[in-house]
Amino acid sequence: MADTAELGGCRTSSINNRRYLGNKYKLLPFITGVVERECRGIRTVADIFSGTGAVASAFQDRRLITNDLMYSNYICNFAWFGAQPYDQEKVVELVAGYNAAQTDEENYMTENFSDTYFSRADCARIGFIREDIERRCRRNELNFRERAILITSLLYAMDKIALTCGHYDAYRRGAVSGQPLELRVPLAPTDNDPGNQCFNEDANNLVKRISADLVYIDPPYNSRQYCDTYHLLENVARWEKPAVYGVARKMDRRALKSRYCTKDAVFAFETLVADIHARYILFSYNNMAAKGNGRSNAKLSDADILRILRTRGEVRVFSESYKAFSAGQSDIEDHAERLFLCICDDGEG
Ligand SMILES: C[S@@+](CC[C@H](N)C(=O)[O-])C[C@H]1O[C@@H](n2cnc3c(N)ncnc32)[C@H](O)[C@@H]1O
Repeated sequence: MADTAELGGCRTSSINNRRYLGNKYKLLPFITGVVERECRGIRTVADIFSGTGAVASAFQDRRLITNDLMYSNYICNFAWFGAQPYDQEKVVELVAGYNAAQTDEENYMTENFSDTYFSRADCARIGFIREDIERRCRRNELNFRERAILITSLLYAMDKIALTCGHYDAYRRGAVSGQPLELRVPLAPTDNDPGNQCFNEDANNLVKRISADLVYIDPPYNSRQYCDTYHLLENVARWEKPAVYGVARKMDRRALKSRYCTKDAVFAFETLVADIHARYILFSYNNMAAKGNGRSNAKLSDADILRILRTRGEVRVFSESYKAFSAGQSDIEDHAERLFLCICDDGEG
C-alpha cells in the first residue's frame, strides 16, 4: 500500500514502514515462491519468530499464528493480524489529535531519554501519547486491538525520527532530528481471519501447543540480542517505566534474552524442531557461519541444521544472494539467504 495515502487528514503506514534487523520483507518473493512451488494444501501458517510480521503478511489469505519473544513485536503483530474488530474512525481521530497535541510536561520519557535518541520536545510528546493510550484503555475507551494499533503507530513514528542508525545500542550525540514526530494510521486489515492468533512467548514453549500446515522459523542468527538492539521500543511498548542504565539507557532485559543468540542455539533448535506439529517446516538462515566478525558469525552450522531437520523428514535447500547488514564492520562476499524446507514424515497439520 502506498506510503503516502491519507485517511482523515493523517498519513498512513503499512507493515514494512519500519527498520528491523533480519526483516524478510525484501525476501518475500523468494519465500512465497518456494512455498507455492513446493508445498500443497497450506491453510494455516505459523510465523513463530515473527519480528515485524513481514512473512506472515505474505500469507494473509490463510489462517495465521504469529509469535515473538518481544512484547513490542507482539503488539505490532496483533495490530496487523489480530482477529478482534476495531473502529478505524476512532483510531484516525486519535492519531490526528496526537499529531496536533503540544506539551512540554515532564514524564518518564523526558526524565530518562531527553537529548539522547530523541530531543526533549519529542520525548515530552512520546511520553504524553503513550500515557494517554494507557489511560484510555483503563477507561475502556479502547479495545486491545485499538490499543495495539495506536502503540504500533507510535513505535513506527519513533523509529522514523530516532537519532540512531536503525538500532538503539547508541545514539548520534548532539545530532538534531530534522523531522517532527508524526504518527501515521496503520492500515491494519478489518477482515483478518477470525481464527488468527498472536502470541508473545518463547517459540520453544509455544510449538508444543499449536499446529499448522506450515511452520516458518526465522530465529536470530548471531550473538546480537534483539532486546538489546530494540530496548527502547520494547520499553515504550511495555510502559512499565523501569529504571534505565548507562549511556544507551537500557532497562533490565534478562527475561528477554534469546537462547538462539548463545552457544545453546543448537540445543534450542533441536528441541524446537522435535516439538513442532506441522506438515512442512520452513527455516530461514544465512550462510554467515564463519564469514563476518565475531558478533555476526551464525550460531548454527549447516551440518547441525541438516542433521536436526532430517530427523523430521526430507530436506530441500533453496538459496538467494542477499546484501548483508554490516554497519561497515565487515564486508561479506557471497552472502546468501537460504531456505531449508523440511517435508515432515509424520505430517500433522
Ligand atoms: C530474524 S528476526 C525475525 C524477522 C522477521 N522474520 C521479519 O521479517 O521481521 C528474529 C526474531 O526472533 C525473536 N526471538 C528471538 N528468540 C526467540 C524465541 N526464543 N522465541 C520467539 N521469538 C524469539 C526476536 O525478537 C526477533 O524478532
